[in-house]
This record gives sequence, structure tokens and C-alpha cells, in this order.
Amino acid sequence: MDKIIVKGGSTRLQGEVTIEGAKNAVLPLLAATILPSKGQTILHNVPILSDVFTMNNVVRGLDVQVSFDQDHNMVTVDATGDLLDEAPYEYVSQMRASIVVLGPILARNGHAKVSMPGGCTIGSRPIDLHLKGLEALGAKISQVGGDITATTDGLQGANIYMDFPSVGATQNLMMAATLAQGTTIIENAAREPEIVDLAILLNKMGSDIRGAGTETLIINGVDKLHGAEHDVVQDRIEAGTFMVAAAMTSGDVLIKSAIWEHNRPLISKLQEMGVEVTEESDGIRIKSDVNRLKPVTVKTLPHPGFPTDMQAQFTALMTVVNGESTMIETVFENRFQHLEEMRRMGLHSEILRDTALIRGGQPLQGAQVMSTDLRASAALILIGMVADGTTSVGELSHLDRGYYKFHEKLAALGADIKRING
Ligand code: UD1
Repeated sequence: MDKIIVKGGSTRLQGEVTIEGAKNAVLPLLAATILPSKGQTILHNVPILSDVFTMNNVVRGLDVQVSFDQDHNMVTVDATGDLLDEAPYEYVSQMRASIVVLGPILARNGHAKVSMPGGCTIGSRPIDLHLKGLEALGAKISQVGGDITATTDGLQGANIYMDFPSVGATQNLMMAATLAQGTTIIENAAREPEIVDLAILLNKMGSDIRGAGTETLIINGVDKLHGAEHDVVQDRIEAGTFMVAAAMTSGDVLIKSAIWEHNRPLISKLQEMGVEVTEESDGIRIKSDVNRLKPVTVKTLPHPGFPTDMQAQFTALMTVVNGESTMIETVFENRFQHLEEMRRMGLHSEILRDTALIRGGQPLQGAQVMSTDLRASAALILIGMVADGTTSVGELSHLDRGYYKFHEKLAALGADIKRING
């Protein structure tokens, strides 16, 4: 089993780092590639991540041709033949995001069977909003033996109000509605940049979606979609992770091709802390002096609030800032597991329901720790860079789901870090 070994203490990150295409954008984009019954779809800027391999296999399992040219970060999909109805359990069970194939398969075939999804263990993560929305579009849903089966004689546009702006449910419903008869209006829709990226691809494929990035989506159904070519948007969470890494090591780092507006909620908190954040022509520069940073209170929320996917990394930053910071996690329950691991390194924190108090500025020592989920794995590596001595981070399968060559990128910025087998 691979481990990351990081020696901390006096690390100061400096230089430039380049960001990949967004994991959370490419997964629904890959699901969308099964919608066109005519022409190939080509995705560029596809990150080389285990979740992408998994989603490629989910799509392949439907009898769709998928090729991944890793040298050029390009995926080509041909879904013009007959699609199978059933997404393979072997891959769906590995990744929660694979539930977003349910809407597209149903829209193409009128019948779909998908296993209840797996994924990170951060709370119960139900899929009721996906299913209620599909029912509103005219699907009959049954759940038997861990499988969800959806059937329809033809999806019909509907007005859907979502109790919570779920990212995955918005994507599933958007994709299903593109091939429904008539108009679908989704209110209280998710507004994440990855929703906008999906709408851009779907509209290139011939759909008619308006309002992406706002809380109301209007989708006028069409008969058929065709293949299209698209560049995956940059990964705001990978960019944010390097922004935090630079901030907590008193670094000076240019995060190339990071998009300012997409990271606005994070930037605002970094600035409140006292980190210098500057927009440059080719990215975002972070300059920081840890000794001068102030504690802050952060609350995770759906976009454009502070992203839950930056919560773990930001708590790592809070540990090096003198004084008491507060992190409130409102999107997922049970997303503070990384704090238990960080305690092994000397973190002083208290958790009361959705709120963690972090007493920053205490001495931190390297330790053997385990990743508990994808973003927690990055957070533990970051804290290893500032703790005295050596930290070893295990369970890297989580890291590989969402970060490409993370240790190499940190090493190029000056971290003393390596990945070993054993
Ligand atoms: C996506 C992201 C994930 C991110 C999350 C929130 C991808 C591949 N993953 O996940 O990295 O952490 O958005 O920004 O894009 N919920 C329900 N019922 C549902 C669906 C969701 O109650 O039917 C709840 C969830 O339990 C959770 C909250 O809504 O508490 C947010 O979930 P959602 O926005 O759906 O996240 P994902 O799409 O799974």
C-alpha cells in the first residue's frame, strides 16, 4: 500500500503550480456523453484520476465506446449505438457520483437500472431528491435489493422545487429533462460552476438550457442530442487546496489558470485571515506570513457559499493560525473525521454537532495518519508540511480519486515529500 511521507517544520512553498480539469465537472460531463444518439463527444482537459477511470468504465458498461488518450487528457465517447439499461454494479458501487447516469440512461432508453451508489463516507448522503425529481418528470421508480429501477413511457417536462440545492440531483434532472417533452423548471437548483459547465456541454449538444449558475433552470426538451466537443473547466477545489497550502506555509505561489470567481468564497476567507490574494493574468497568487494571520469563522454552504470540499483543508490552515477559529459544516454530517487524525499530530479542537473549534498555533508533531476521505487526505498532507518531524499518510486511494500527482506538485514548490510503496 502506498504512503506519502512528508517532512515538515520549515517548509515554505514557492513557485508556480498548474491545475487540472475539475473532477466534479468531468464526472457529470461523462454521464452526459451517453445522451447523444448521433456523433461522437470529445472532452479535453480531462484529469487523470481514478474517479475518471471509474466513470469511463460505468459508461463503457452500457455498451458505449469510450477511449481515454491520457497523453492529451482527452476522452472520446461514441454512444450512437443501442445503450444497455443497466449500469454495472462493479463500478457504480465504487463512486457515489455514478448515480448521475440514471437520468441520462432513462432519458435515452425509457428504462434504467443503477445500484445505490458508494463513495466517500461523509454522512448518509441520500438520493431522494434525484428520485423525486425523476418521478416528477414521469418516471416510475422502484428500489429492490440495492438497485434503483426507473421506467417511463416518455419523460414530460415539470416544475420541480428542490428542498436543497443538491449538485448531483440538479445534474441528473437537467440531463433527463433535455430529452423530456416540453419545459422543465428546476427551482432552488444548485449553482456550482460544475453545473454551468454541464449546461454548456449540453447546449453544445443541442439542448436548450437557460439559467445555469442561477437558482432557476429552464430546460426546453428536444427530440435528440448530437455529439459535441468541450474543454472541462479548471478544478476550483484543487486550486483552493494549493491556495491553502501556500497560505499555511508562509508561501508565495502562483496557482496557474485558477479562476477567481469560482474561488470567491475561499478567497474572501483567506483575505479576512490576512492572506494576500492577487488576481494575475495567468492565475491567482497567494502570499502569506502565517505569524500575522488571524483566526476566522467559516460556515460551509452550497455555492456561492464556502465549499464543503475545502473544509478539511481549511481546518488544516486554522491549526497554524494563532487563536481560536470556528468551522461550521452545514452541507454534510460526519465530515470532521480528519480532525481525529489531526489530533494525533497535536491539534487542539472540540466538536459540538456541526461546529468545530480549532485552537490554532499549538505545536504540531508528525505522526502516522490515515486518510478518511478524499479532501481529508489532502488536508493531512498539508498539515504534515508544517508539523515537526515526519508524517506518513496512508489510504491514498482517497487522494487518487481527486488529485493528480499531488506530492509531485508540492515537491516542485519546495515541500520535502515523497510517495513510497509499503
Ligand atoms: C457534489 C460533489 C461533492 C461535494 C458536494 C457538495 C461531485 C461529483 N461531488 O456531491 O464533491 O462535496 O457536491 O458540494 O460533484 N442530499 C439529500 N438528498 C439527495 C441529494 C443530496 O439529502 O437526493 C444531501 C446530501 O446528503 C448532502 C447535501 O444534500 O447533505 C449535498 O449533497 P449534493 O449537493 O447532492 O452532493 P453530491 O452531488 O453528492
